[in-house]
Amino acid sequence: MTTATAQSHPNIAFIKYWGDREPLLHLPASGSISMNLDGLYSRTQVTFDPTLAADQLTLDGKKMSGAPLVRVSKLLERVRQMAGLRQFAAVTSNNNFPMGAGIASSASAFAALSLAAATAAGITLNEQELSRLARTGSGSACRSVPAGFVEWQAGDGDASSYAFSIAPPDYWDLVDCIAIVSQVHKPTGSSEGHALADSSPLQAARLEGATRRLELCRKAILERDFAGLTDVVELDCNLMHAVMMTSAPPLLYWQPATLAVMHAVVDWRQDGLPVCYTIDAGPNVHVLCSSQHRAQVTARLAQIPGVERLLTARPGGAARLLESPISTP
Ligand code: DP6
Repeated sequence: MTTATAQSHPNIAFIKYWGDREPLLHLPASGSISMNLDGLYSRTQVTFDPTLAADQLTLDGKKMSGAPLVRVSKLLERVRQMAGLRQFAAVTSNNNFPMGAGIASSASAFAALSLAAATAAGITLNEQELSRLARTGSGSACRSVPAGFVEWQAGDGDASSYAFSIAPPDYWDLVDCIAIVSQVHKPTGSSEGHALADSSPLQAARLEGATRRLELCRKAILERDFAGLTDVVELDCNLMHAVMMTSAPPLLYWQPATLAVMHAVVDWRQDGLPVCYTIDAGPNVHVLCSSQHRAQVTARLAQIPGVERLLTARPGGAARLLESPISTP
């Protein structure tokens, strides 16, 4: 019996992944860029156990079956094939943040699962290999493997579609102030959403400018240029939501309080506060600013009707092991 435990952070996409070229392997239609979120994490323990008759999954204390278990089992199967192992595994995973509401819990979950499962199976993967493995569980999970500010290159196949760090966590003292306006599990998850992207007449236009936006975002990060980051991050977010709203069927993730926060952020910026917003596949708004403005931004966000809760996160590190595997003969 072998056990390993790993921890990884969710990430917030500055340049979004929305739409697949190849859905089974999560090969994206375009590259994306994100920042890992320190302080928020998934912790996952994997134990390969010769006495188990099937894989098991316990998520936040609840025994899971159906689709979530199947998804985890598929990743475990890949690891078993890589390691030449035939044992089933017990997986226990906990998140310290609300699931399914625009903070990508699948990203941190599959990054931590990949590292824990590979280690428990006795195989050592380098960062690229681990990122590729995590990608097959959830696309954005490949970005939770490396540290800090991370780019996922679309690549032209499984071997070249992985994420790498553009800059370490301490490179830029940005803070993500997450305005939670709803903790309800989202009605349409990202996996179904990706499949709808091409049904929007706007997706082709969005993809046409994707390489340019990636360049602008990478440059803004490397130059610590907040105004440059603001322009490209809000544009990319709005383009993705425009695609979502115009797909068939349409996806509208915004709630009235989502829009209230977006308007407030734009107003504050016009009054001189350097701040910008981005939103993933949910109603919650990620408000970015530098750490010197954090107190002011969170105080203002807390005043907006409909903002139920605030989380803040600095740039986070890489996926890591929490303990070395315990082997029981
Ligand atoms: C809107 O990576 O969650 O957060 O690969 O199906 O698990 P699956 O999708 P997922 O999609 C992320 C969508 C997004 C944008 C992003 O994080 O880039």
